[in-house]
Amino acid sequence: MIPYSKQNITKEDEDVLRKALFDPFLTQGPKVVEFEKSLSQKHKCADTVACSSGSAALHLAYAGCGIDKDGIGIVPAITFASTANGFKHLGARVLFCDVDPTTGIIDLNSLETTLKKANSDRVSGQGVIAPVSFAGQVAPLRQCYELAKEFDFKVVEDASHSPLAIGQDEDEVIRSCSCEWTDYATLSFHPVKHLCSGEGGAVLCKTRDHAVQPRKLRSHGIIRDVDPEGNQPWKYHQTDLGWNYRLTDLQAALGLSQLKRLEKEIEKRKGLASIYNQELKVEPFSNVFELPSFSSGHVWHLYVLRFKRTEWRDNAYHFLKKKGILTQVHYIPVYHHPYFGGLSANEKLPGAEQFFSSCLSIPLFPTMTETDQNQVINCLREYCNSLIF
Ligand SMILES: Cc1ncc(COP(=O)(O)O)c(C=O)c1O
Repeated sequence: MIPYSKQNITKEDEDVLRKALFDPFLTQGPKVVEFEKSLSQKHKCADTVACSSGSAALHLAYAGCGIDKDGIGIVPAITFASTANGFKHLGARVLFCDVDPTTGIIDLNSLETTLKKANSDRVSGQGVIAPVSFAGQVAPLRQCYELAKEFDFKVVEDASHSPLAIGQDEDEVIRSCSCEWTDYATLSFHPVKHLCSGEGGAVLCKTRDHAVQPRKLRSHGIIRDVDPEGNQPWKYHQTDLGWNYRLTDLQAALGLSQLKRLEKEIEKRKGLASIYNQELKVEPFSNVFELPSFSSGHVWHLYVLRFKRTEWRDNAYHFLKKKGILTQVHYIPVYHHPYFGGLSANEKLPGAEQFFSSCLSIPLFPTMTETDQNQVINCLREYCNSLIF
């Protein structure tokens, strides 16, 4: 089977992990601190709070923005449910906004409309926009930040797909995860992502002050060193209701080892994407699907085809599966899920619906061989040739 994505664990990762097993700390130790420092350096942000998953990172970042039951979260409809769930965990309201039907990335006109709607009935409470740098392409973070300022919102970039991605906004370079145009950015270290720690995530912070609340909430809402001068150094206080969202030192050790070769892995992804772009731009493929737009700063978490007919997309999924090739639909608009249900048909977002009805992610991961990729291309060719126009 060729999966749509999978982890790359090297011998070096294995050695690092074995060694970490016998370190004095399996959790709450120095490896987590080292991992956080390395992540901050790599992404050029002020501070990082490592945590147990990308979902936990979103939850912590929203809490760090001050979201509570009176808060509002604005989420692009094409994303994993976690982007919205972090708001729900805090009791806040979620408003979905539309995406560009060709990229799956937040649509700024829809964002402005949604912000107006949010503020028309906002009495109190913090608002947060959560743009997703979907598939590895940077969302329009600067424009989101400017709109956020205008409407008194904060911005959290869901950068689960986009470590080190670079975008262009007029003359300016926009770096995913740098927090230059956001309050926070979040990463996921799930095995299908660029960096893998089994499970894991991180909150990247605009300033060191931004890190204080997420760091405290990651570990139950407890602060230590409350009596540094006195004779009760063991003393600690719980000041907030937090969670146990800690990353272990074992996971941090694996993450550190993977971080060393992040750029190399991204180059492999770029190489594979460029082969797909070359090979799939001609007939018969071009009769059946569109390709993602290629930019040099894209880091290719996903390679998403957009089929010209939904039935062709659905049948392609089954056809490829029978041939041992696993694909995936990224994503079902979040408001479709029963938990978020209640939107009537005329409130459906057209860009998100169009993207959802066409999209299919085909295999792309750093250990993918030439043989694997040729098999995917050949099977897609066979499938496209089998369609009658
Ligand atoms: C866009 C996006 N946000 C959030 C998450 C949640 O990350 P995790 O699985 O590490 O909780 C994912 C993971 O699939 C994701 O793709």
